Amino acid sequence: MKRIIAPSVLSADFGNLERDIKMLDASQAEWVHIDVMDGVFVPNISFGFPVMKPIRKATSKVLDVHLMITEPEKYVARFVEAGADYVTFHYEATEKIQECIDLIRKAGAKVGISIKPGTEPNVLDEWLDQLDLILVMSVEPGFGGQKFMPSSIAKCEYLDAKRRERGLNDIIIEVDGGISAANSRLLFDAGAEALVAGSSVFGAESPEQAIIDMLNS
Ligand code: DX5
Ligand code: ZN
Repeated sequence: MKRIIAPSVLSADFGNLERDIKMLDASQAEWVHIDVMDGVFVPNISFGFPVMKPIRKATSKVLDVHLMITEPEKYVARFVEAGADYVTFHYEATEKIQECIDLIRKAGAKVGISIKPGTEPNVLDEWLDQLDLILVMSVEPGFGGQKFMPSSIAKCEYLDAKRRERGLNDIIIEVDGGISAANSRLLFDAGAEALVAGSSVFGAESPEQAIIDMLNS
């Protein structure tokens, strides 16, 4: 099984964004996680298209865009144009799931769906064969630095069992929120292959070492 760390740019220093992204580019992190918030789907606003450009310029790593926005169908294609490799939208944010999947795929990126802590993973059963990634939220989306919710572990186990049962082994299970070297092992053991980490990476004395510690947990 793969082990991928996706540091969240939300916790970077925006006055030194290029420096922070170049640090990630030289680190063991394979992905860079980009949290887009609209102030409607979540009670916070982060950033949008203009910030994608300097990030894409500063790194060749996989850009993993997490859209916490309503009606994602209106914007997914533009995120692909802006350089996203994966575009993940929320199951709870739209009635037009098939349209979102088709738009992301047609624009040339990989497709992810995310579920909030209150959403059961079986809602994704019918979409599994069209997905490249499932993002399990282990905090309420909206803010970095929150406490990890252990209910996410059973969701990973459920999704891992489902993907094996259906022979869909290429789907990546990703978990986001409150992750550090203290719980990364539990999640990898439960079937997660990509872990998002914001404050535990950027708040560490050595972000590079914090990434290595999670990978080696
Ligand atoms: C929360 C975001 C997360 C967040 C993770 O809405 O989706 O990606 O930045 O931050 P930490 O690792 O600090 O919980
Ligand atoms: Zn995120």
